[in-house]
Amino acid sequence: MTGITIEPNRLLKDLYKLRSFGARGNGVVRPAFSDCDIAARKWLSERIKEAGLNPIFDPVGNLFGLPPGDGKCLLLGSHSDTQPEGGWLDGAYGVIAGLEVARAAVAAGGPAIAVVAFQDEEGRFGPLTGSRIWSGALPLADADKLTDTSGLSFAEARSSMAGLCEEAFVDPGRFTGFIEAHIEQGPVLDSHSETIGVVDSIVGIRSERYCIRGQQNHAGTTPMALRRDAFQGLVQFANEINKQFADIVTPATVWTIGHVTLHPNATSIVPGRVEFIVQWRDAEEERLDRMTAVMRDIAARTAESRGLEFERSAFSAIQPTQMDRRLMTRIEVAAEQLAAGNWRHMPSGALHDAANVSRLMPVAMLFVPSIGGVSHDFAEDTAAEHLVLGARVLATCIGA
Ligand code: GLV
Ligand code: MN
Ligand code: MN
Repeated sequence: MTGITIEPNRLLKDLYKLRSFGARGNGVVRPAFSDCDIAARKWLSERIKEAGLNPIFDPVGNLFGLPPGDGKCLLLGSHSDTQPEGGWLDGAYGVIAGLEVARAAVAAGGPAIAVVAFQDEEGRFGPLTGSRIWSGALPLADADKLTDTSGLSFAEARSSMAGLCEEAFVDPGRFTGFIEAHIEQGPVLDSHSETIGVVDSIVGIRSERYCIRGQQNHAGTTPMALRRDAFQGLVQFANEINKQFADIVTPATVWTIGHVTLHPNATSIVPGRVEFIVQWRDAEEERLDRMTAVMRDIAARTAESRGLEFERSAFSAIQPTQMDRRLMTRIEVAAEQLAAGNWRHMPSGALHDAANVSRLMPVAMLFVPSIGGVSHDFAEDTAAEHLVLGARVLATCIGA
């Protein structure tokens, strides 16, 4: 039995406080580098200091809390930015649970624990930007050229934190491993009345930005046969990928066109341009590659059949990731101790910073249930008792 005892009220109080930065009802709007994201990071750095850890913002705004000395230790945490319409627990839970366990460990006299709140996990500038840079998967010079959907560059965005950030990245060599606690964001635990998920793998993801160019024209005078309508090109592209992916995918494969900008977006104008981002996820890299090839072929054929141009940019990829067996065993033992017979192994269909961090050190993840399986929505929620249980499992496995 571990001697690390978390304080449930302190955990919940800090979670509620973090929600207040950008709160919208039960949900949150706190995109990376927004004023409320930076304010939340400053507040977190104060909590980290209070916990007896040294807060450090790295050059891209990832916030670390490092224990005194230069001994090696375990790293706990997640991200504190949110989707443009986000839930209050996605990322925030792993950060505050990590902080709670770290300060409870200080009170227990050890072991030393470090914490992290990664920046832009939610992909304002592409998937998992902060941890992708820290892990070495994305060179900083390349990241600086990335833009968000409004055209703002990553370099400009991070300059808004310049006064806070150090020039050097934290040395990953000082960490023995990384454990990320997270809400499940899907229906499995909730629908089986289970309380803890021990993650075995994280899906891989690809995403690509497209611009379709046609001919902007009058919606009353341009005959259908003569139109080069960019929006109709997108509709054909989306329908074709739905049809053709059917031969390649498994029931677990997913693909989404979630961001679309139509130009000029006016009732009486045939759209001349549409920009959109398409994203696809699967546990097998080979399948992701086949989907890429099929999609590019469909783009070329749609362009030809409709007299349109399809321009591709900003391709990004994160490989499927296996969790570390040794760290998983520690979580399994703790889960069996605190939630006997009420936990399961499961893959993660959501992306997590742990996928990038696995390039640097052993990683593992634990899930708590999401009510109704809802996430990336203001309605996202988890029962307080499950938030507390997850933090207890985390405390128990780091003490093991
Ligand atoms: C991260 O939130 C994801 O999109 O899976
Ligand atoms: Mn998350
Ligand atoms: Mn998310």
